[in-house]
Amino acid sequence: MDLGLGGKVALVTAASRGIGRAVAGADVAICARGRDALDEAVAALRGHGVEAVGIPADVATAEGVTDVVDATVERFRRIDVLVNNAGEAWSGRMLETSDEQWASCLDINLYSAVRFTRAVVPHMRRQGGGRIVNISTVGAHSPIGGLVDYEAAKAALLTFSKTMAGELAADNILVNSVCPALIHTPLWDRLADGMIPAMGATREEVFHRLATQFLPVGRFATPDEVSGLVVFLASSRATFIAGVAYDVDGGCTRSIL
Ligand SMILES: NC(=O)c1ccc[n+]([C@@H]2O[C@H](COP(=O)([O-])OP(=O)(O)OC[C@H]3O[C@@H](n4cnc5c(N)ncnc54)[C@H](O)[C@@H]3O)[C@@H](O)[C@H]2O)c1
Repeated sequence: MDLGLGGKVALVTAASRGIGRAVAGADVAICARGRDALDEAVAALRGHGVEAVGIPADVATAEGVTDVVDATVERFRRIDVLVNNAGEAWSGRMLETSDEQWASCLDINLYSAVRFTRAVVPHMRRQGGGRIVNISTVGAHSPIGGLVDYEAAKAALLTFSKTMAGELAADNILVNSVCPALIHTPLWDRLADGMIPAMGATREEVFHRLATQFLPVGRFATPDEVSGLVVFLASSRATFIAGVAYDVDGGCTRSIL
């Protein structure tokens, strides 16, 4: 099927694994901190006939963002799509969080998207338009608790997306958000491992209990079940959608929150 991404160049942050890795289709620049995982992801994308480049960088820093955008433009000469996928969650109840944890959390979950948007928009304007998709979470509008800094940062990302949608639509740059929940990626392996002592269960049992308790569909999603929507929003098929946040959550926020 034509995904409407032919001839486009996409920059996907934090894409060596998880949801980011599942977002492909255009020529693509991906970045992550670890060189080995990045090389493996690039090889897999090339194996699917995608022209891909991997750029090692810490995108929680201003220098990392600049390096990634410069390397992408040097390689492909344009950027049509930006997917701000980088994100990290640590468990956090308010009184246990420090200023340092809040600063790190805001750097990766909010400022990374702000800095990439600032760096990429001039290229999109010059090219006559583009698409930006920000990966937030359902916790941004329906917090589950215990992730206070992460959910606050992702809520700010949602508002940032809506503001950018208004500011950039006249330049034919369409900005939208996707709010996933309970997607089985390394992020959830980490969170599930943290629940093992309290639940007195194995990792598999933790996943099973969470899925049956919170998800009407009865299972966690795969990264591919999120990437289809991201690819659509990034494509030339989505020409009249701006400032919207879409939940990809197996119905969980409709049924329990
Ligand atoms: N998995 C879920 O259920 C879920 C739910 C809601 C939102 N999300 C969001 O989806 C996005 C992708 O998450 P995922 O589940 O694939 O997570 P993941 O942990 O599997 O992948 C996150 C990626 O971010 C990268 N990353 C983190 N900090 C980085 C940094 N400073 N510089 C460069 N790369 C960095 C990691 O290396 C990794 O490649 C995140 O923004 C996350 O908050 C995920």
